[in-house]
Amino acid sequence: MVETISKLMFPRMTALITTCDKDGKPNVASFSFLMPISFEPKYLAFSVAPERYTFKNLNEVREFVVNIPDERMLKEVWICGTRSGRNVDKFTLAGLEVERSLKVRPPRIRGCPVQLECTVELMERFGDHYLVIGRVVEEHVNKVDFKPVLHYSGKIFYRIGEKISAEPL
Ligand SMILES: Cc1cc2nc3c(=O)[nH]c(=O)nc-3n(C[C@H](O)[C@H](O)[C@H](O)COP(=O)(O)O)c2cc1C
Repeated sequence: MVETISKLMFPRMTALITTCDKDGKPNVASFSFLMPISFEPKYLAFSVAPERYTFKNLNEVREFVVNIPDERMLKEVWICGTRSGRNVDKFTLAGLEVERSLKVRPPRIRGCPVQLECTVELMERFGDHYLVIGRVVEEHVNKVDFKPVLHYSGKIFYRIGEKISAEPL
């Protein structure tokens, strides 16, 4: 049986990624095709389908912010991952408050424990998505030990479990 890749590679960290258009109008959407790439300097990647409003924004302003929500923000994650900024202001709809970023134009989302301001270094199509590689140019970390939202597929998510160590104690 052929399964979708999201059901084969899980759970995945979920982020609320903010972008903006050339006039500075911001948008936010949920992304779980997301990975770190480099320690120093920090680079990361995510994958965006070309139908997303986020993709249109990234072609206008090559900057974004990766806002990592806590599991208490699952409802907001769902709203931002099921509605498009083309038709609706998701900040208002999901009740998300924003703050100005320091180095990029898209805003950061208040309350997300990790906020990574990024510039686009590469955007290239692979299959039905574009891989976006970003360089982290500024970071805001309010809490290191938080509970991320872990995505499986569709509306199914996981919550982080028990911490385990590779070394027997
Ligand atoms: C938890 C979750 C994770 C998602 N991950 C991705 C992803 O990695 N890449 C992608 O293109 N869309 C992903 N989506 C779908 C987009 O978030 C969704 O299409 C959204 O409406 C796009 O908003 P926009 O049109 O404002 O950019 C995800 C949706 C959810 C709920």
